[in-house]
Amino acid sequence: MTDITSQTEAALAAIAAADSLDTLEAQRLETLGKKGWVSLALKTLGGMTPEERTAAAPAIQSARAAIAEALEAKKAALESAELEAQLARETIDLTLPAAATPKGSVHPVSQVMDELAEIFADLGFAVATGPEIEDDWHNFTALNMDETHPARAMHDTFYFPDKTSDSKDVLLRTHTSPVQIRSMLAQGAPIRIIAPGRVYRSDSDATHTPMFHQVEGLVIDKDIHLGHLKWTLETFFKAFFEREDIVLRLRPSYFPFTEPSVEVDVGYSNEGGRRVVGGHGDAPGHAWMEIGGSGMVNARVLEFAGVDPAEYQGFAFGLGIDRIAMLKYGMNDLRAFFDGDPRWLAHYGFSPFDQPTLSAGVGARA
Ligand code: PHE
Repeated sequence: MTDITSQTEAALAAIAAADSLDTLEAQRLETLGKKGWVSLALKTLGGMTPEERTAAAPAIQSARAAIAEALEAKKAALESAELEAQLARETIDLTLPAAATPKGSVHPVSQVMDELAEIFADLGFAVATGPEIEDDWHNFTALNMDETHPARAMHDTFYFPDKTSDSKDVLLRTHTSPVQIRSMLAQGAPIRIIAPGRVYRSDSDATHTPMFHQVEGLVIDKDIHLGHLKWTLETFFKAFFEREDIVLRLRPSYFPFTEPSVEVDVGYSNEGGRRVVGGHGDAPGHAWMEIGGSGMVNARVLEFAGVDPAEYQGFAFGLGIDRIAMLKYGMNDLRAFFDGDPRWLAHYGFSPFDQPTLSAGVGARA
């Protein structure tokens, strides 16, 4: 009895003094381990008479409980002390200045997309998106280009091979116009969206790359007419180029999905070999440059997209983002946009902190 009491006291003291998980484990083996004295003492109970057992058992049981509890508490304490030490050891001082200036910059195309979203948001436009891998129906048919339509040939489409049939159904979208269809089907009219994104055509030279960027615009409401289109584009370009002397020329054209259709030209002049937007294209030293297509949405397109043309009408436009980026930031080779040359990006890229806002200037370069 006294033996057990003193042995227990000694064990508890050793446990309390243990300064590592290893010494603690040694203590556990000495007491509660298979050959530990507590376990051996428990075994002796089996050979006792019931009376002896009743007398001896409580002391052994309580010794085991006390030691088990002490082991567990000490283990938790040692583990948390170890974690604390590890946390202290591995601390990184985030307030120290960076050893090197972070490299990397925002591509001018991304910057211009942010600028577009900012300006059009101010005019009440939401940003819509659609898939770059499109189906024939959304890219062509619903835009009033059925299978035999000659305008399809103008698009130099990349089709995906279809193993199961001869039909060419899946393609890389050739323009952002299928987002018009998807947006109208999803939310109906009235609607006011822009849809910036990548488009693909099998076409490559100094002014064309197989992938390029467009922004689609779509406004459907009651009593919308071409005047709204012209005002919207003019207001956009004035904000985008940050100058008041933007002059647009709408030139009659043809797109299957708009009726009437117009091509949009902007007046510019050459200053030191650089095209600078502004002024009337017919003024001396000036010329016109095409920057996009637009028109009143064809009634058939509205029908395909589930909008009643007797009640609603509106306009759509598609602008080349790469082209307006080149004009704004004075870049002259479209192909350099997609070369991924870090020297070009270092020169023409934007700081990630340079967020375009209307108040700070959508074009301010840090
Ligand atoms: N989708 C046309 C193109 O890529 C541009 C466009 C958009 C024309 C909307 C009219 C209306 O050439």
